[in-house]
Order: sequence, then C-alpha cells, then structure tokens
Amino acid sequence: MEGTYTEGFAKVNAGNAFINPLAKLNRDIGIAIVGPKKRGKGLKMLDATAATGIRGIRYLIESAVDDCTFLEINEDVFSQLGANIKSNGVKAAALNTSIQEFCSSTRERFDLVELDPFGGIYPYVFDVAKVLRGGSYFFATATDAAVLCGAQKNACLKLYSAKPMHNKLCHETGLRIMIGYMARMLAQFNFGIDVLLGMFHDHYMRVYARIESGAAAATKSIGELGFAFYCDSCGAITSSKGLVPVHAECHECGSKMRASGPLWLGRLKSDAAIEAVSAYASKSGDRHLKSVSQLLSSELDIPLFYHIPSFTKKLGITGVSPDAVIESLVMRGLSASHTHFDPNGIKSSATAADVTAAIKGCAAGSGSAMH
Ligand SMILES: C[S@@+](CC[C@H](N)C(=O)[O-])C[C@H]1O[C@@H](n2cnc3c(N)ncnc32)[C@H](O)[C@@H]1O
Ligand SMILES: [Zn+2]
Repeated sequence: MEGTYTEGFAKVNAGNAFINPLAKLNRDIGIAIVGPKKRGKGLKMLDATAATGIRGIRYLIESAVDDCTFLEINEDVFSQLGANIKSNGVKAAALNTSIQEFCSSTRERFDLVELDPFGGIYPYVFDVAKVLRGGSYFFATATDAAVLCGAQKNACLKLYSAKPMHNKLCHETGLRIMIGYMARMLAQFNFGIDVLLGMFHDHYMRVYARIESGAAAATKSIGELGFAFYCDSCGAITSSKGLVPVHAECHECGSKMRASGPLWLGRLKSDAAIEAVSAYASKSGDRHLKSVSQLLSSELDIPLFYHIPSFTKKLGITGVSPDAVIESLVMRGLSASHTHFDPNGIKSSATAADVTAAIKGCAAGSGSAMH
C-alpha cells in the first residue's frame, strides 16, 4: 500500500510492510473487547507480528493498553515499524527478532498477545504460551483457511492433528479446529482457554480468548474438545465431546456420517464481548461493525448449522429463505437463528427431519415447489 494509511487514531506508512485495510474490523473488535483506558496501570501487550505496527499503535492510543512490545522478524519491515512508532508518538519497545526467539528467552509476561502471522498460527502458539499468565488476553488470526477447511486435508492432519470437514460447514469446523489446537498447546502449560469471541470473516479465522491458569482450567478446556458429524444423506448434524468419536452412524437415517476433529465444542462467544463490540460500533457509528455484532449477538451458540440450499437442492425446491425456515421452526417452539458462518445457514436445535418439514412447508406456502 502506497502512502499514509490512517485507521482509528493511528497513522502509518506501509513501505515494505504488509497491511490489510479490511482487517480494520478485527482490530476494532480487539480494541472494543479490551476496552478504553482506565485509571491506574494499563495492560502490557505483545504485538508479536507487528508489520507496520498499526495494531499495537492503535491499542496504545485507543485502549487500556499502555505498554507494548513489538516483534518483527523482517529487517526492512522492522525499520518501517520503528518509523511508525516514532511518528505516532507512542512509547514502545520494538525488537527485530522472531516470536520463537523472544518468547523462549524473556522472563516478561503479557496481559495481551496479538498473533497475526502470514498463514496459520500453528508454528507460534507453543512459544506464545510461554509469555502468557492467568487472565491474559490471547487474540489470534489465521489465514490458512484452505488447510483448516479441508481443501488441503493432509496439511490439516499433519499441522493440526485434526481431520477437517470439506463441505459447507468447513468455516465453522475450521475455526473450531484452530481453537482446539490452541487449547491443546495451552493445556501443556496448565492454561485453559475461555473463548470470548470466535468468528470467520473475510476468509480468515479470528479468536479472542482469555487465559485461565491452573491444571483444572487446562483439563476443563480439553473437556470441551470433541468431534463434529454430518450426514450426507439426510443433512443431520451432531457432535460429541471427548477424544473418542462416538457417532459413526446417523441418529436420524442410519447412514455413515462424516466426522471432523478433534475440535473445540465449547462456546464461541460471551455476552460481555458482544456487548463491548456492539457499544463500540454504536459509538463509532460503524454500520458494518454494528451489523456484524447484531448477527453475532442473535446467533445460537451451538456447534454446526443446517445449510438450507443443500436441503432444497435434494428436495427439488427453490426460493426458500433462511428467514422463512427460522420463523417456521420458532413457531413450532424450536430454537433457530441465522449464523455468521453462512448467509444460507441456520443454527437450530431442530432435527434434520424438522428442518426438512419446515422447508417443505415454506415451499408449499409460497408455491415455490418445482413440480
Ligand atoms: C500479516 S503481517 C501482520 C499484520 C499486522 N499485525 C496488522 O495488523 O497489520 C505478519 C508479519 O509478521 C512477520 N513475521 C513472520 N514470521 C514472524 C516471526 N516468526 N516472528 C515475528 N514476526 C514474524 C512478517 O514479517 C509480517 O510483517
Ligand atoms: Zn442421516
């Protein structure tokens, strides 16, 4: 990117450094969750993959963070980072080193670590764990969606020790594989992971988590791991906690189900995080962020979803909207919501048979059956 880039209260020059203006949304959400400056000592942050430094600089100016260490492995990029730190007038330490080297040699601990590498997070989580403590925030972005979502299945098996699901559910299972990996790495340090918000957006996975300290917390996190199942025949979905998969056969039609995991089956959002993001969006007047926060807020926090077009295709029906199916299920006393993972998906406690019946009902009502 040429010239000066302004975002929030930061102004940076990219030079040779990578910057993605579209990632503003995920930077905004992090700043919203951490919250504004308070009286007394602020938070100590590690911007582990700094590039231009936009992330750490924004936290320093706009949030409760008052101390930041920036890491940048690339020498050219590092000199641009130094210039940006200076021109923004923030006081910070910047080191031209790697996450691996820094985290293995420091005695410092951080209240917030931002990990935003090129590609996957798997090479770094183990080292990041060394500089966390109970109560730390650990925010991570992954752009290796092709691996996590199963387009590169063997890479997922090799790098995450998890089987991906390469179908319409892959963005959710990919995110849950990423969190499952974080939970397993962190557990080795007797850390548990509390997911404040986990989302898929613009082709990347994003996790905002808080670290809990102690063997019990670590064991509790591992207890949230399990497997996700999908039936190609009838569209049924289910999941089972534990590191032994149990639902080989579909509970609705008896067919063999596809399995994915181990992956995170715990929560993907907290009320406090959603409220913070929503308040931030209202205050900043950012309508895109507001609509994202509304969608996340209304979404049922349960594993997996039903992809409506996969049902309508099999039924030979067109033109049934997720809204209509949600309304029909809710009228029957079942829970149902949109999902941010897919505009054509719905989360619901209903069975696949219930969803099929609702879709048929909607099609009959609107006269949209093809024959
Ligand atoms: C995706 S960019 C970061 C973007 C930035 N966080 C933002 O919000 O604009 C990733 C950066 O991490 C740096 N990097 C890659 N591997 C690293 C490592 N092992 N340790 C520290 N920095 C690394 C790259 O040189 C690159 O500048
Ligand atoms: Zn089935």
